[in-house]
Amino acid sequence: MGKSTNITWHDATITKQDRHAQNGHGSCVLWFTGLSGSGKSTIANAVSNELFRQGINEYVLDGDNIRHGLNKDLGFSEYDRTENIRRIGEVAKLFVDSGKVVTTAFISPFRSDRDQVRSIFTDNEFIEVFVDCPLEECERRDPKQLYAKARAGEIKDFTGIDSPYEAPEQPEITIHSNEVSVEDAVQLVLGYLQDKNII
Ligand code: PPS
Repeated sequence: MGKSTNITWHDATITKQDRHAQNGHGSCVLWFTGLSGSGKSTIANAVSNELFRQGINEYVLDGDNIRHGLNKDLGFSEYDRTENIRRIGEVAKLFVDSGKVVTTAFISPFRSDRDQVRSIFTDNEFIEVFVDCPLEECERRDPKQLYAKARAGEIKDFTGIDSPYEAPEQPEITIHSNEVSVEDAVQLVLGYLQDKNII
């Protein structure tokens, strides 16, 4: 693949701060990470719904959906997962620049990939939300029957089975999704955004 040359960065005339002033709130990415079946998408979407209801400019980037379009050339090898997360990080940055509170729901199993995404944001813009749910519980839920297929050897490199998940060491928010309701998880996240004066 060729690399772009002779390109110049253009600063936008309308700044992120201008957009914050117009919106009446700040922007950030709520980066949900966790095992398949942990509840990432459910909680991320519930957070976004509540933000929308409160008149906050928000958007959700969700794993399965992005893999139908932008990242449909990527599978689940280590290299492809890293590239998946890199691209989503760049897209999330555009959304944050546009003044939105963006929620992302990707397994993002590798700590170095999440840290790399964190590094492209400024302080307090990247909020790592660890949806912590024991593997046994995710496997018991198995909403898409993917764990069953992975155990049967029909899916290779399945996170938690034969591909690793590296839990965050210092996430901004941890949600024990097998212990709290979706509503309580939403309140936890919104409380954090309020404490940081983002909303
Ligand atoms: S990653 O690891 O961040 O690149 O994965 P992500 O883009 O979030 O995609 C995860 C969803 O893809 C389905 N799926 C798999 N997950 C993990 N491992 C393997 N091998 C795999 N194959 C397909 C699965 O439905 C994941 O969705 P969630 O919502 O996490 O259950």
